[in-house]
Amino acid sequence: MPRCILSPLDLTVEELDELMDTAMDIMKDPEKYSHTMDGKVLATLFFEPSTRTRLSFEAAMLRLGGKTMGFHSADSSSATKGETVADTIRVMSQFADICAMRHPKEGAALVAAEKSDIPIINAGDGGHQHPTQTLTDLMTIKALKGHFDNLTVGMCGDLKFGRTVHSLIRALVRYENVKFIFISPKELMLPGYIRDDLLIRNNVEFREVTKLEDVLSELDLLYMTRVQRERFFNEEDYVRLKDFYILDRKKMELAGKDMLVLHPLPRVNEIATEIDDDPRAAYFKQVRYGMFIRMALILKLLDVKVK
Ligand code: CP
Repeated sequence: MPRCILSPLDLTVEELDELMDTAMDIMKDPEKYSHTMDGKVLATLFFEPSTRTRLSFEAAMLRLGGKTMGFHSADSSSATKGETVADTIRVMSQFADICAMRHPKEGAALVAAEKSDIPIINAGDGGHQHPTQTLTDLMTIKALKGHFDNLTVGMCGDLKFGRTVHSLIRALVRYENVKFIFISPKELMLPGYIRDDLLIRNNVEFREVTKLEDVLSELDLLYMTRVQRERFFNEEDYVRLKDFYILDRKKMELAGKDMLVLHPLPRVNEIATEIDDDPRAAYFKQVRYGMFIRMALILKLLDVKVK
């Protein structure tokens, strides 16, 4: 099986550092990297909607000199005729050199990786993992805060189904003395396999609260998330919970002057647009960092070294 990235833990802390260094170097000198993927093809297989992740991968490959191909919905693929993920990836292995795949089912990327001849990057599998969003988040924190150790990180919104939250927690617990405050309605609290099996088992310090206002002053970083309509079984629950948190100017007055606000995007109502120009709002910069770290990841998985 080629090297695949299914979870952020598929990369060591040292490899993450190396990726972030490469991404920083690409930002400084993009020209140096602009032909590193000449003749290579990236397939983007998206069985679920996306704006950022798919186009960020495509932009990354194009800026490295490579080409892209793929589909952006299950409806436009032979999945509608009953083709399995395993068969789809065997076919793609004949066409492309590397593949980014998103699928609504947890574990789909693992199934693909087991049958693939080319590196598979999990671009989101259901409520499970989204490792390149985590790389994006880490890159943003590193660039804007300079370190991971000793941070107090607030995570707010849908902590139950939020795959970006689950992946980022897994990545951050590997650093020294990172504390978490989880802010959610009780229906959207962290799943047990994160709370008990990861945090409690590893003696990570954390609290679970429902009121955002009560904890804003303690945070170095606030990771806001959307309540995801597509993960709910009934519309009534979604409607009841969707506007549970709205980060606005008044709430930002309670936060420290250096508290970063991150969001994987898309946002709906959970961050008022009135704070978009607040210097602490980093979610659009985050999108840009995401493209550079994906460039670094493509180079690594295809084993291309640039002097
Ligand atoms: N952050 C993220 O995964 O966005 P998309 O769903 O638009 O790819």
